[in-house]
Amino acid sequence: MPDERTGHWDDVYRERDESRLSWHQDDPAISLELFGIAGIDETSVIDIGAGTSRFATRLVERGVHDVTVLDVSGAALDRSRRQLGEAADRIDWITADVRTWPPVRTYDLWHDRAMFHFLVDARERAAYRSRLRRALRPGGHAIIATFAHDGPEACSGLPVVRYEPDGLRRALGDRFTLVAHRHHVHHTPWGSPQSFQYSLLRLDE
Ligand SMILES: C[S@@+](CC[C@H](N)C(=O)[O-])C[C@H]1O[C@@H](n2cnc3c(N)ncnc32)[C@H](O)[C@@H]1O
Repeated sequence: MPDERTGHWDDVYRERDESRLSWHQDDPAISLELFGIAGIDETSVIDIGAGTSRFATRLVERGVHDVTVLDVSGAALDRSRRQLGEAADRIDWITADVRTWPPVRTYDLWHDRAMFHFLVDARERAAYRSRLRRALRPGGHAIIATFAHDGPEACSGLPVVRYEPDGLRRALGDRFTLVAHRHHVHHTPWGSPQSFQYSLLRLDE
């Protein structure tokens, strides 16, 4: 699969601070709400396409001990590590393209806000699904947020696929049950509204 994306995202994170990243949010409130609904104790979590998101940090602050973040951009993860200082040691960091990443263990929860929707090609989505199924323990949960049907058609100059919760569930294959979902209007740092859907799904045992 083409690898031009690594360069694209590294350039984005090197050139722009958070005030110029459309997806930036200080408070990952909807992700945390759905994490609460999943209701899992002693959880292991992986955040896919985490960028400089605060989600992993908030989980560590809540006492979640086993937190991993993965992103294709080393520049994004370096920035996150610097921002976190010593707390960065409490997180596992993986620089990898999820489409080719070989999972070596399983997690209770897979989180992805605004990464899956960049996979516009069916083969890329199949590669993502295969990693999701290998990395999530049976009975585990996935929180996946994408642009909703009334959301933007592109982000960061790249086309996206927009979803509603049922369509997302179908895109992930037949072993997921939709547990809860939210429609959320995110406001970019410069105030533009963007519609997202957030889905909480459970992988069958
Ligand atoms: C729109 S940003 C969202 C970042 C973060 N999830 C958040 O909510 O702030 C998309 C992220 O996905 C990462 N990404 C894009 N394609 C990827 C891939 N194939 N594998 C892993 N990460 C990828 C980018 O580097 C970027 O950090």
